[in-house]
Amino acid sequence: MAKPRFHDLIINSVRQDTSESLELNFTVPAELADEFAFTPGQYLTVRAEINGEDVRRSYSICSSVGAVGISVGVKRIAGGAFSGFATGLKCGDLMSVMSPQGRFTAKIGGTHHYLLLAAGSGVTPIKSIAQSVLEGEPDSTVTLCYANRNTQSVMFRQAFDDLKDQFLTRFSMTHIMDEEAQDVSLFNGRMDAEKLNTMAIRGLITPLEYDAIYICGPQPMIEAASEALASLGVDKDRIKFELFTPSTPLQIASTKEQKIPLKGALIQVILDGATRSFRMMPDQPLLDAATQSGLELPYSCANGMCATCRCKLADGKGNMVQNFSLEAWEMDKGFVLACQFQPHSKTVVLDFDAV
Ligand code: FES
Repeated sequence: MAKPRFHDLIINSVRQDTSESLELNFTVPAELADEFAFTPGQYLTVRAEINGEDVRRSYSICSSVGAVGISVGVKRIAGGAFSGFATGLKCGDLMSVMSPQGRFTAKIGGTHHYLLLAAGSGVTPIKSIAQSVLEGEPDSTVTLCYANRNTQSVMFRQAFDDLKDQFLTRFSMTHIMDEEAQDVSLFNGRMDAEKLNTMAIRGLITPLEYDAIYICGPQPMIEAASEALASLGVDKDRIKFELFTPSTPLQIASTKEQKIPLKGALIQVILDGATRSFRMMPDQPLLDAATQSGLELPYSCANGMCATCRCKLADGKGNMVQNFSLEAWEMDKGFVLACQFQPHSKTVVLDFDAV
């Protein structure tokens, strides 16, 4: 796994997409081309000082692998520090951007038949996957079901219309709206289990025939879709998902009875071949303790979602508060999320170089 790093990139364009979203395109200089090469489905973490605070946000890449530069879709969140700041960005501004990360990916090459399910701004990585597959795999097909409130909230509407025109026989798209009546009543409402079942019965989607099914949106939609697909006989290994707005952790490590040592813990960190240490007190998040000691650890969401802070517990004991991103096999091998880690022994060693 490539080590994520921040680089200053120039904003090449800012395009208003919907009234609540915009697309930022960054120029990637030749010397950073390898570092910013991405697999469709990945995201970028951007960083800015806003009101004296170091604010980081992860935004999914929406451009295809062959596009000029690299673009992300930014949806405005009410009161959101970065999305509000982003509305003031303009062409030529410099932005601190971390190299692409994420495992919700579709490698390009060969022939695939994909079903893509998206809700709201969850369509951002889905758009990159759809466009990259259609452009890069001449015999592949993509079926997209995209749920929104209404037509005005559909992100990348023009881009999807262009894809439909360009790949008439290989790309099909169904809009599902819950605040706007459509000609076909089946497409009104939410993308829930009942709707997906009905679509499968009517042959509008053929879940058992896809090589993989990618789902991105809020947790209730992902859970409903995954359950519906499983009940239709889809193997869970063929279902890939990315949470955009989690409500409950997917997996939580055992909390058992252990506590953070009252006098704090000595955290030793192995990063880029060097070992540094700092003290973390019981009421302190690990990332804050590291920053206060002058050590910059890789992180983005600080919320257990992105796995940018993934590292291996090489020595000592501890657990995670919550985990939305590590899989069971990674936790079995001792990987943890530093942003969620709480030490249970006086000393712990976290290895960020471990793969
Ligand atoms: S920083 Fe995102 S999971 Fe830790």
